[in-house]
Amino acid sequence: MRARVFPDYEGISAAVAYVVAGRLEEEPSTVLMLPTGITPLGMYRRLVEMHRSGRLSFANATFFNLDEYLGLAPDHRASYHVYMKDRFYGLIDADPARVFVPDGTAPDPEAECRRYEAAIREAGGIDVCVLGIGRNGHIGFNEPGAPFDSRTRVVELSESTRKVNASDFEADRAPERAITAGMATIFDSKSVLLLASGTNKAGAVAAAVEDDVSESMPASMLRSHPNASLFLDEDAASALGGGLAE
Ligand code: F6R
Repeated sequence: MRARVFPDYEGISAAVAYVVAGRLEEEPSTVLMLPTGITPLGMYRRLVEMHRSGRLSFANATFFNLDEYLGLAPDHRASYHVYMKDRFYGLIDADPARVFVPDGTAPDPEAECRRYEAAIREAGGIDVCVLGIGRNGHIGFNEPGAPFDSRTRVVELSESTRKVNASDFEADRAPERAITAGMATIFDSKSVLLLASGTNKAGAVAAAVEDDVSESMPASMLRSHPNASLFLDEDAASALGGGLAE
């Protein structure tokens, strides 16, 4: 796993947007898997700017989101459908037929997970997977203990994750469950870009990079991925002991 350290958040955002844009220029039909949350906002802003200035088209790309809360309607203001539409998909020339976000209101969530995996397979697999990281090391909504061989499925969110995300919800009650792309779904991506910013991610980053590869630290799985890169700011890298490159 390679790590690149930038002075600040803007540095990460610009670098990741540049990598994603470069992939799309080389191969316009690139299949992307994308996160929500605070961390990728700068990347999305930059990709939208590139599109608006006529430098970048997403018309032939395919998009999969990593996760969605279970039970949340696609028009709920805290849903990841709304997040992505407001910040990215609605601002670029994405083809709606090639935009996939798990349906949190599917009557049969297990069938929805199978449908999602099948759609990824039909698209030819993920070329570039962009990830954030939770303070507990989660990727997607794969909380500590998530099996490395897991596929898209319904998961329970940890108390700590629900607390961090609580402010998006009325009465500070985040949903208890979500649909997430699995660990193996993520691992099968041809390349993985993990973004982390701020001191509150430093512990998880250090554990993922330096402790044992273990299901108790989901992001550590990326250490055995042939093409995974970390994009860190100095704060997120501040607990690393040195030897970054593996
Ligand atoms: C969101 C997701 C999560 C976040 C992680 C970090 O789709 O998959 O794993 O990437 O919780 O969130 P932020 O960026 O808000 O710190």
